[in-house]
Amino acid sequence: MIRFPDYFLFGTATSSHQIEGNNIFNDWWEWETKGRIKVRSGKACNHWELYKEDIELMAELGYNAYRFSIEWSRIFPRKDHIDYESLNKYKEIVNLLRKYGIEPVITLHHFTNPQWFMKIGGWTREENIKYFIKYVELIASEIKDVKIWITINEPIIYVLQGYISGEWPPGIKNLKIADQVTKNLLKAHNEAYNILHKHGIVGIAKNMIAFKPGSNRGKDINIYHKVDKAFNWGFLNGILRGELETLRGKYRVEPGNIDFIGINYYSSYIVKYTWNPFKLHIKVEPLDTGLWTTMGYCIYPRGIYEVVMKTHEKYGKEIIITENGVAVENDELRILSIIRHLQYLYKAMNEGAKVKGYFYWSFMDNFEWDKGFNQRFGLVEVDYKTFERKPRKSAYVYSQIARTKTISD
Ligand code: NOJ
Repeated sequence: MIRFPDYFLFGTATSSHQIEGNNIFNDWWEWETKGRIKVRSGKACNHWELYKEDIELMAELGYNAYRFSIEWSRIFPRKDHIDYESLNKYKEIVNLLRKYGIEPVITLHHFTNPQWFMKIGGWTREENIKYFIKYVELIASEIKDVKIWITINEPIIYVLQGYISGEWPPGIKNLKIADQVTKNLLKAHNEAYNILHKHGIVGIAKNMIAFKPGSNRGKDINIYHKVDKAFNWGFLNGILRGELETLRGKYRVEPGNIDFIGINYYSSYIVKYTWNPFKLHIKVEPLDTGLWTTMGYCIYPRGIYEVVMKTHEKYGKEIIITENGVAVENDELRILSIIRHLQYLYKAMNEGAKVKGYFYWSFMDNFEWDKGFNQRFGLVEVDYKTFERKPRKSAYVYSQIARTKTISD
């Protein structure tokens, strides 16, 4: 049997666009409306109307923390207009969470941007950072009693999808612009940190992949190091050491700070060298553990131990698992996945990693971006016709873990 410390947070995570519904002022809504992907988020989980029920359910299940994001485009639907009704709703959400003893964790940027912000060049322009900061200042002064903040969710995934593969808005495919955006996000984090740090502890949610080299050949090893660095550590090195590294290059940047490192861990990929006339000689494929998820990658619980230990050894900072979860049809696999990941996390803690909490992605099924509603990540099942919520067996298993802080095998 293993027992987690009393202070440990056992939470769940969501993001605004994926659950709220009708986020008509953000860039994803526009992208969906223009038919750039086959699905529309529409009413999503209708959480904007059902938030009370959702939080009550969370409380019944006994999870002691909840990570969610504030939708910037709801607060500033236009450049100079603050929507106080939306702001009040987020305040109410925080109050409700507090009432039930659930620790609120707020993300300020989770992939979506106001349409007006993107029209003036969005993150490609350094002078636009001030608009994000204005929003952060407003939230920090208005939303009291939140002690854990996340500035930006998965900056590298956002850049990869939006500015390299172009599969997400704004649909750009340009490595140079991608680096510009990365630098601006880093600056935005640093400025937001200074504001939020007065109110609590501040981190980013960094997606981390447990990469492995394809073979012992020098070429595979080299390309593996390059990918691992650019994907997992380049942005953090930028914040903490002033050495930003991307796939394209290394940059000296103004360092900033971070109080904890949030890790979103999902899977492991094999990195191989492949000759490619178009510069990057990289081939990346999922590690086959036999436990496939519907996302097209496998469950590899040991990877959480690997990325946490590396993070601990590199920076020695406090760590929160800000996301970990699986999209599967068989809920038994979700149960197994949660237990195995927590066991490996515990092993890392035993070996010195300072881990403060674990957030399962996601509290409920939701809109998985370009993949739509078919990816079932939820502890709670959502019927998208009736919006009925039905906790799966895994929700109760996780509830038991959260309440007792123990896992027995
Ligand atoms: C990472 C992202 O932060 C979240 O938006 C997404 O739904 C999950 N991982 C699952 O892919």
